[in-house]
Amino acid sequence: MSHIRLVTEIPGPKSKQMLARRLAAMPAGLAKSTEICIERAEGALVHDVDGNTLIDLAGGIGMLNAGHCPPTVVAAVQKQAEKLIHPCALVATYEPYVRLAEVLNEITPGNFPKKTLLANSGSEAVENAVKMARVFTGRSAVICFEGAYHGRTLLTLSLTSKYGLFKKGFGPYAPEIYRLPAPDMYRRPPGMAENDYILWRIHQLEKAFIAQVDPSAVAAIIIEPVQGEAGFIAMPEAFLRRIRELCDQHGIVMIADEVQSGFGRTGKLFAMEHYQIAPDLICMAKSLAAGMPISAVTGRADIVDASHIGGVGGTYGGSPVACAAALETIEIIRQPAFLARAREIGEIIRRTLQGWMQACDLIGDVRGLGAMMLFELVLNRETKEPAAQETLQVIREAVPRGVVLIRAGLYSNCVRLLPPFAITDEQLHEALSILGEAVRTVNARRAVQCG
Ligand SMILES: Cc1ncc(COP(=O)(O)O)c(C=O)c1O
Repeated sequence: MSHIRLVTEIPGPKSKQMLARRLAAMPAGLAKSTEICIERAEGALVHDVDGNTLIDLAGGIGMLNAGHCPPTVVAAVQKQAEKLIHPCALVATYEPYVRLAEVLNEITPGNFPKKTLLANSGSEAVENAVKMARVFTGRSAVICFEGAYHGRTLLTLSLTSKYGLFKKGFGPYAPEIYRLPAPDMYRRPPGMAENDYILWRIHQLEKAFIAQVDPSAVAAIIIEPVQGEAGFIAMPEAFLRRIRELCDQHGIVMIADEVQSGFGRTGKLFAMEHYQIAPDLICMAKSLAAGMPISAVTGRADIVDASHIGGVGGTYGGSPVACAAALETIEIIRQPAFLARAREIGEIIRRTLQGWMQACDLIGDVRGLGAMMLFELVLNRETKEPAAQETLQVIREAVPRGVVLIRAGLYSNCVRLLPPFAITDEQLHEALSILGEAVRTVNARRAVQCG
């Protein structure tokens, strides 16, 4: 049975009208990966304003691990909204904030006393984590990595990589930020063994403490255990372990940005659990509340407590409605069956993508952790020249046939798959088969062009 139901072209007439209104009323700089105009959604299915039904493999860029509108989350939001929408945590105390902090303190990695600050977006979580690290250490420098995406506020944009797409024209950026290369196994120098490459990257990290900034000036090292925007690049364990050691040695705060990799996406609640390394602070957002705007910084109580009274917080941070959504979402995500399903989905996707890679030389790499899977398109497997245009073509082939997609990658040449785990096997296979056809079509077209 097909789950995709197309009654008009995509975009259909009503969608076209809405897109025209968007163009007139909304900023041109607000990008969109598709022309789909969504009216409602449930599970892994979205319904557009023209009555078309599509399968969502973009999952709100990792925000919808628990699916669109999970009924228990919707009910919790409705119930909470009737009782108390938001009194502001800077004015009064309410149970949903307290409870969510307790739950996050319990479920995040690390066997030490923890506390949690709630905010509204991933960027805000990262901003707060850096503030906490600075006030705790009395230092100002922050080390981040090439390929990193930490957000779009001015501090987090300063930490973010990929200049052309995210940063061009918005400077000057915050000072005291040092960006180091992160391991990217696929793009390591030709002929270099994996182990030698990881050791080289570790050496660059150590050398930076001589060449760039003294460790006694460094407040924090911030890292995504699996880089998201950069193209689902899982950090090698030895690299993260060395960061942990250096942080311990020099009194530096280790911040894990799990905004995209958290809440079951990699098959464990947090990606850091794959490495069995506890960061001092962990930043969370996206799938925390199934799409309700809320984020969190959880970590060592002494670090979270370091600020003077009044130094952290904001008007909307940790609203009762968003907290209620988060508590219900965590109930769903914590279930062993949910995480098992995430791993199963990851395996299905991995096997399928590897099959395509055998048949299409346009695919240079298939990678990821758990259900955080992606394929990278290249013009030449030897030179690994990025195929950014072809990646767009794949998306333009697949979306009108009913699949919601988004790109990724430092070179914008990857298609990342972040389906809600509410997706059924049938829906997943249907969506993947359309995407596979799109890849084969673009691959064949290129083969003809190249003679
Ligand atoms: C790893 C990571 N950190 C931070 C952010 C910023 O989150 P937000 O867009 O909610 O500000 C993102 C967003 O994609 C992210 O992937």
